[in-house]
Formats: sequence, structure tokens, C-alpha cells
Amino acid sequence: MTIDKKYIDHFINVSSKAALASSYLVGKKDKIAADQAAVDSMRTELNKIDMNGQVVIGEGSLDEAPMLYTGELLGNKKGPNFDIAVDPVEGTNFAANNLPGAISVIAIAEKGNLFNAPETYMNKIATGNVEKGVIDLDYLLKKNISNLAEFMNKDISSITACILDRPRHKKIIDELKNLKVNLKLITDGDVLGALYVSDPKYNVDIFLGVGGGPEGVLAASALDAYGCHFQGRFIFDNDKDISDAKKMGITNLNKKYELNEIVKGDSIFCATGITTSDVLSGIEISNNAYIGETLVTHKSSNFKKIIKRTNFIKE
Ligand code: FBP
Repeated sequence: MTIDKKYIDHFINVSSKAALASSYLVGKKDKIAADQAAVDSMRTELNKIDMNGQVVIGEGSLDEAPMLYTGELLGNKKGPNFDIAVDPVEGTNFAANNLPGAISVIAIAEKGNLFNAPETYMNKIATGNVEKGVIDLDYLLKKNISNLAEFMNKDISSITACILDRPRHKKIIDELKNLKVNLKLITDGDVLGALYVSDPKYNVDIFLGVGGGPEGVLAASALDAYGCHFQGRFIFDNDKDISDAKKMGITNLNKKYELNEIVKGDSIFCATGITTSDVLSGIEISNNAYIGETLVTHKSSNFKKIIKRTNFIKE
């Protein structure tokens, strides 16, 4: 089974309108308001679509999030069954502070095919399309870097690694520096961080480190369409996370997930720029129209494109 191509347009519309809604709050120093505007918009638009959708990755559980909570049913109940993962504003600090890199993100797969990720951290590794055995989350960092350099026929000093700039990554960052690897340190937004490996034009050969688990699933769904390599391992380091994981049916807390265990079958991924980044332009508004740029993938039709669209802003 595949997801009908007509849904590409529907989901571009969802992420574009969410990006537009939060763009009015860019630079207002209020990340909660920027997120809420995108959440409200996404929910309204998703409910107009012919589908039986269910949120598998959203804004939290019902008691934390009245909208787009995990388990929420969306759509007009007149179509196929979809799993839906959303991050209405990925990079809320970027939006609040008017910095590059805020995006609105949605991923869809057929029911049962998108991993229901716990709200914990995930240790991730992503590269372009490498042969099996070249890169592995369980290898020492040095081995991954030298294997990648050899596979890409490059010097280690020409490899670029992207990682969130966090104290928890000090050891990895120091080791990469010692290996003479070029660093691309990001302050937030590791969905885009991971997506850099999808195209040589972004000049990132490997993405690694610990970031949000839900963001890992979203990135994986896009990377799947590009044929990239991705592995992730959730980190359960406190009693609440461990008990939540068990409730979700995760028995092996130390499991390393391969990309095809995180997203199976067909999928659609849409990320629309809210503020401009090196991947996507941010929302531009003029008179009663706006321009939004969306990175779209649809696995089964091998569709992978950045789409720029002008739409009217309705009152
Ligand atoms: P938000 O948009 O929810 O603020 O997340 C931003 C982000 O940088 C993610 O891209 C990343 O996965 C996560 O936060 C990292 O978490 P932390 O800031 O705790 O290191």
C-alpha cells in the first residue's frame, strides 16, 4: 500500500499554514505563544483532510496538551488510516528570538508504521547513503569517522560533522576537534541538523549526538526518502521515563533502532521554514499573500523537493 500523491498538497498546506501562524510571533520572545499558534493552525487544517489520522508524536499526553496530544484522532474520518507525527514549531527559541532555523514539521505514514516515540532524549547518528557496516551507533567515534572518510574517499580533515552545541557533547566535540574533523555546531533544531546529510550542498557528512527522540523520528522519516543512514537509541535515565517506556510497550530499553524500525512503508514529510535557514526561506508576507518554502518528501513516488508557494491569507 502507498499513500496517494494527492495528500502531498494537503500536508504542504498544513505545515505552511502552521508556519504562517507562528511567523506572526517571530521575535516576540514568547516561544509558547509561537508554538501555540502553530498547534492551533495544524489541528484545524488536519481536521479538514479526508483521513482517519492519529497523532503518534505530538505535543505530549492529553493531560499536558489539549491539542495534538498523543493519541488524538484527526481528519474527517472519510479516508485512509494514518499515523501522524508533528512538531508545529521545531526550534521554538529560534522563532521567539527571530533567529534562523525555525520550521513547522509534519510526517505521515500508514497506520502502525511510524514509531510512537517517548518524549525522551535519543542518541542519533545519520549520514548519506553508506553501505551497511560503515557507520554504526555502537562503533567508537574514531572508527565511524575513519570509515566514513574511507567510504567517501576523503581525508578526515575534509569531513564535516554536525552536532548540537551542548555540554553533554563536550567529549565528542573535543574528540572530533582532535581528529581534525570540521564542526558544524547548532544551538537548536536537530531535525534540520540531521537533514543536512541528505544533500551534499549542505556540506555535512555526518550528524550525531543526543537530541529529542520525537525529533529523531521526524528526521528519520525524511531521511528514509533520501535513502540515508539513520540509527537511534532512546535514553531512559530516570524512573518516570522508564515507567512511561514500559507503559508504551518498550521492553528493551537499550535497543538500537534502525531507520526501517522507526518508519516503515510509505511516508510523507513536510517542513516549512518559519525563519530563514540554510535549507529553507522563512515566511514572507506581503499584502494579503504569503510565500512559504517547504521541503517535501513522498517515499513511494521518490518525490523530494523544496517547494515555494504563494498563497492568499484568508481573513
Ligand atoms: P524545541 O523546538 O521544542 O524547543 O526543541 C529544540 C531542540 O533543539 C530540538 O531540535 C532538539 O532535539 C532538542 O531541542 C534538544 O534538547 P535540549 O535543548 O534539551 O538539548
